[in-house]
Amino acid sequence: MQIELNDIRKSFTIYERPEGRWGMLRGAFTRSVRKVKALDGIGFTISEGELVGYIGPNGAGKSTTVKVMSGILTPDDGECRIMGKIPWKNRVEHVSQIGVVFGQRSQLWWDVPVADSFDVLKDIYAIPAADYRVRLRELTGALGVDGLLKTPVRQLSLGQRMRCELAAALLHRPRILFLDEPTIGLDAVSKLSLRAFLKEENHQHGVTMVLTTHDMDDIEALCERVMVIGHGRLLYDGNLSGLQDKYAPEVIAKVNTDQMIAAMYEDLSLT
Ligand SMILES: Nc1ncnc2c1ncn2[C@@H]1O[C@H](COP(=O)(O)OP(=O)(O)O)[C@@H](O)[C@H]1O
Ligand SMILES: [Mg+2]
Repeated sequence: MQIELNDIRKSFTIYERPEGRWGMLRGAFTRSVRKVKALDGIGFTISEGELVGYIGPNGAGKSTTVKVMSGILTPDDGECRIMGKIPWKNRVEHVSQIGVVFGQRSQLWWDVPVADSFDVLKDIYAIPAADYRVRLRELTGALGVDGLLKTPVRQLSLGQRMRCELAAALLHRPRILFLDEPTIGLDAVSKLSLRAFLKEENHQHGVTMVLTTHDMDDIEALCERVMVIGHGRLLYDGNLSGLQDKYAPEVIAKVNTDQMIAAMYEDLSLT
């Protein structure tokens, strides 16, 4: 298996200050502490070339899972091996094999032309010059961003920026791509072109993809397999049609996955 997670746990400690005018002062003495179990024993395996949808309501633990798999976060407990490497331990080797796109955060430099950010990535990943030229042409062509390379990132529309983010994440030819809400906020046309590109990249190069989304249309267009997470636990792992058989179609058809999860929770008596 290319990706293996077993019983991964991660809690966050949240320090809360009392509210109000004197809160800051009182906070020095009485800080309340709360623990959030972001991941409460997550396990799954993914084989090479799979395109898996990872869905669940806000706060379910999707981004935390992606961060653990990318080596950004170290879990409290559990095992994770990706292409034989432990992400947070073998960081350097690990990042050379994966690409990550966070829809709500840019990995491109805001004030400089897109091409300059790409050049920095070329150096970071030590991509040989000839290989870089070929790959850059390939990606900018497929994503339709050739004309944007000289534009500073801050001047791009969200759709244009997301296409550049994808190119940036794939320049070093990773075998695995993690996408955390890549379609969030995109217009319909941008969503379609992004989906088409991901599908093609998966088919052509066999890049494994784990895709977090709030949009069931993303899942329907791209993923045969879907994993559902809620409160840090895996609630469903199987094909989309199984999910559709199991739960009311009118619930699943809703673009809002939060409502679907609520229905699943009821079904599983987890509320
Ligand atoms: N850095 C952090 N500090 C404190 N709590 C966090 C942090 N990151 C995530 N959490 C909490 O962990 C839970 C899971 O968050 P997250 O993985 O971002 O969910 P999702 O991506 O599914 O919306 C939430 O309750 C969130 O508030
Ligand atoms: Mg998230």
